[in-house]
Amino acid sequence: MTDAKHSSPRRHRSWAEPYKIKVVEPLKMTTRAEREQAIAAAGYNTFLLRSEDVYIDLLTDSGTAAMSDYQWAGMMLGDEAYAGSKNFYNLEENIQKYYGYRYIVPTHQGRGAENILSQILIKPGDYVPGNMYFTTTRLHQELAGGTFVDVIIDEAHDAESLHPFKGNIDLQKLTDLIERVGAERIPYISVAGTVNMAGGQPISIANLRAVYQLAQSYGIRIILDATRAVENAYFIQQREEDYRNQAIATILHEFCSYTDGCTMSGKKDALVNIGGWLALNDYNLYEEARNLIVIYEGLHTYGGMAGRDMEAMARGIEESVKDDHIRARVGQVEYLGQKLLDWGIPIVVPIGGHAIYLDAKRFLPQIPQDEFPAQRLAAELYVEAGIRAMERGIVSAGRSKQTGDNYYPELELVRLTIPRRVYTQAHMDLTAEAVEEVYYNRDRLCGLKMIYEPKYLRFFQARFELL
Ligand code: F0G
Repeated sequence: MTDAKHSSPRRHRSWAEPYKIKVVEPLKMTTRAEREQAIAAAGYNTFLLRSEDVYIDLLTDSGTAAMSDYQWAGMMLGDEAYAGSKNFYNLEENIQKYYGYRYIVPTHQGRGAENILSQILIKPGDYVPGNMYFTTTRLHQELAGGTFVDVIIDEAHDAESLHPFKGNIDLQKLTDLIERVGAERIPYISVAGTVNMAGGQPISIANLRAVYQLAQSYGIRIILDATRAVENAYFIQQREEDYRNQAIATILHEFCSYTDGCTMSGKKDALVNIGGWLALNDYNLYEEARNLIVIYEGLHTYGGMAGRDMEAMARGIEESVKDDHIRARVGQVEYLGQKLLDWGIPIVVPIGGHAIYLDAKRFLPQIPQDEFPAQRLAAELYVEAGIRAMERGIVSAGRSKQTGDNYYPELELVRLTIPRRVYTQAHMDLTAEAVEEVYYNRDRLCGLKMIYEPKYLRFFQARFELL
């Protein structure tokens, strides 16, 4: 193919979006004074801002993707029958094809699946080991009477460790727990790929395989949180020698084969605004799930979703496993992260799959953790440029179920989460510049006082005042 006369010295080719823009949504521009007022009215909690007052919304990658014309076309083919919608069968077929699980129960979103799974599998007094917690996942485990035990490798709690798979499970920690409490007290191992609270960090397929072998030897199930498993597959392709030449779809399928089922928030990888599922390989468990789904979500062929939403998700799955798509998706996150690294701004490394995490402990060392440095930093970014980020530190970590004391997580982070296919490179440039500006003026920032604390998942609705 290469013609010596025309071959260029430039070997590297940038990634670029494998799509073009067909519809746009205008954004409102605000003044600094307006933003100062808005954030104070929101109790310095970015969850309580009005979306129309936000310029670049990096609160979450959940439900915020831009759907394709193929997905929108599918929305018109919604079969809104109460029972047996054809869109359910399309969805079921694609989950079986790409994720490889046998039995599927649709749910309105990820936490719906977590609720059903926890109710089926967890008994009071049980332990659920996992590679770091996720907020809703752990809460459902606890509400069902279980105790979550973190068995992720130590590197995951170190924002500066360059370990390529900070989502890995520490096999020794896992074995110790099994030996201590007994396999019969462990209904399943909760494995997430990628690990959101660790900075969007992947678990290697070698590690998952080893965990699977260990779990099998004790007769313990593994349930995957597949919310960002496609992004995890991308890191496996990039970082694990044996997988370099394999397609994302092939890697995803093998990855899931080392687990016995999954909960899924389709609002992330699967490129939809709403939807999720619970997948299981064991027929008896599936039957129980089908019994509970009609109480909490809806009939087992819609589970809280409209037919059109199931069709959009079935099609989103197909698009999500395309190599070009995932390369551009993670490439955009890397673009923003690399820019911040080049400017010396403290972020979690390696750069994760769906977000950049500012390290608030190093960014604002003058603010002690119980004055909520990450919460303050997120509020300040909004005031600076109308950028909405999310606290992922002590506020998100909540309190211990046993003692009622605050958890003090090692990681005190602000997440700049990149929605899929939504923002341009210029938006990323502006975001980086705004972060740099706040970093430059960081010395003048002080902490916050919490003046309202909700009982569950407090980060969503807590309110603060400037100290
Ligand atoms: N698991 C992980 C790893 C998640 O990131 C989320 C949601 C869920 C489960 C729950 O799914 O929202 O559909 O009920 N994460 C969102 C976020 C909210 O912003 O990271 P859900």
